[in-house]
Amino acid sequence: MNELCDVSLSRRNLLIAGALSATTTAVPLTAEAQPAQAATPPVPVKVSLVVNGKPQLLELDTRTTLLDALREHLRLTGTKKGCDHGQCGACTVMVNGRRINSCLTLAVMHEGDKITTIEGLGTPDKLHPMQAAFIKHDGYQCGYCTPGQICSAVAMLEEIKQGIPSHVSTDLNTQPLLNAAELRERMSGNICRCGAYSNIIDAITEVGGRT
Ligand code: FES
Ligand code: FES
Repeated sequence: MNELCDVSLSRRNLLIAGALSATTTAVPLTAEAQPAQAATPPVPVKVSLVVNGKPQLLELDTRTTLLDALREHLRLTGTKKGCDHGQCGACTVMVNGRRINSCLTLAVMHEGDKITTIEGLGTPDKLHPMQAAFIKHDGYQCGYCTPGQICSAVAMLEEIKQGIPSHVSTDLNTQPLLNAAELRERMSGNICRCGAYSNIIDAITEVGGRT
């Protein structure tokens, strides 16, 4: 074999070896070949919350949302799960007086916080003024969005009282007005599929006019 043949053979071997190694790396590892991964069970953590005035100690998976902690662990099912993605407002509760979407926050982030749900606002015998106004003005149809609407409205009137402006406030240096445009803007995170919006605004206007 002459020198030329030697070179061409070794090039050929090199190409074959390269092709083989490419094939080897392209083939995915089978399930058997994968290193075994032991499933680690979630470790529960202790969380203390004050819900509707009552101290509550829960043991929760750290991934539990505040919404699921309220509904699934404390059985406070007044707070509703609509979208579970922060888009509908059905899950609105108050945390230390501020309204939040409870589906967007983890329960473990609220150690020691004071949570108010619709069950903590009033009782059938002693309704909160906002609950009474929603009934008076027919501010609901199916009622699914209503707990969130009411919690949101109560906290929203506090925001107006504190002079916090909204995107439609015309003058940032004066007390925001209690008009329909302000209320609609401030309540825009609470969706009502039944379209009870005008009655909801009537109910909130009545309560806001008294506070
Ligand atoms: S369920 Fe939380 S915003 Fe829709
Ligand atoms: S009353 Fe039905 S979604 Fe609002």
